Amino acid sequence: MNNAYKIRDNFYWIGAIDWNLRDFHGYSTEKGSTYNAFLLTDQRNVLFDTVKAPFSNEMLERISSLIDVSKIDYIVVNHVEMDHSGALPLVIERIKPEKIICSAKGKEALLSHFKRPDWPYHVVKTGDVINVGKKNMTFIETPMLHWPDSMFTYIKEDEILVSSDAFGQHFATSERLDVDVDLSELMRQTAKYYANILLPYSNLIQKLLKTVKDMNIKIDLIAPDHGLIWTKNIPDVIKAYDDWSVPRLNKKAVIFFDTMWKSTEKMAYSITEGLMSQGISVKMMKLGENNRSDVITEILDAGAVIVGSSTLNNEFLPMVSDMLTYMKGLRPVNRIGASFNSFGWNPGVLKKLNMELEASGIKLISEGIGVKYVPEQSDLENCYQLGIKVAKELNSK
Ligand code: FEO
Repeated sequence: MNNAYKIRDNFYWIGAIDWNLRDFHGYSTEKGSTYNAFLLTDQRNVLFDTVKAPFSNEMLERISSLIDVSKIDYIVVNHVEMDHSGALPLVIERIKPEKIICSAKGKEALLSHFKRPDWPYHVVKTGDVINVGKKNMTFIETPMLHWPDSMFTYIKEDEILVSSDAFGQHFATSERLDVDVDLSELMRQTAKYYANILLPYSNLIQKLLKTVKDMNIKIDLIAPDHGLIWTKNIPDVIKAYDDWSVPRLNKKAVIFFDTMWKSTEKMAYSITEGLMSQGISVKMMKLGENNRSDVITEILDAGAVIVGSSTLNNEFLPMVSDMLTYMKGLRPVNRIGASFNSFGWNPGVLKKLNMELEASGIKLISEGIGVKYVPEQSDLENCYQLGIKVAKELNSK
């Protein structure tokens, strides 16, 4: 029996817990995830988003533990990505809602996904208000957080912000509220989510934080579409989003690399020592041992990114290629960077590494270091000096 969980009077969590999810299109979800959906009960009953399709019945059971599903009047689609809309066709069939409330882009996306022009769409824009009895819902479009269709819903009387993907975490727990779990783990999963999903939209997050501040609304609860619901720790997560989106970066360097016969690895160790000698915090991450999504999470608050690869058939090692492609999409701009490479007979890969760093928005502060086959002591000294150069640049900021 799946139950509804009361969050506030007349506001319930009726989502699904995906305990054993370990991969979310390339993002390693070592703690699983939840697909949060919420129910507001009033003169009109409102469902906020749904869940991934395989969890449809779990959600319907949770609703049924509270009210007959046919008593839902409106469905608010804050976000069309399938982890939140997958259950919609079945749910709409069962509920037969009077309105499906979404943004203009949301309607477009719903039509593209489900090919159902007959559904009762009700398009809203920022500032629109819908009364459901004692409560009023205000809509705030948040395009590209995380898709063009995304929006927030604010329930004024309860000071609840239903925030779609923003402020979420892939974190499966039996608890529903932030105060009931370890805060450091919650913030770690929140950072990982930001780094892997929202990082490219940091400038929009800055604008959104300003918009919400200017609206001068009180927020007592933030209900995201994944993970824990924010109550007491709202100031912590707002501050973290501000820091990550500005971004305010630490005197920290992330070195990621892969190595064929340990020459590149030796270079990585020497660069690390150079950085550490200047008091820089370093994360030295060999790919394969570290998932791409954990590497980008470390880059989230790092001022420097240093990448190394051995040459394989005149190209990067495959895992370096994977990481560079992933990072290029997420665009960790405002960082400084450098490259290193061990090659056999063609030194061209160093240049390619540099180009990839620049394509990610990272500013090169060195032409990098290439070493033929196995590094000599003098090569390792050069690597150590590269670490010092990066450190000095970080310390000068
Ligand atoms: Fe959780 Fe962008 O979907």
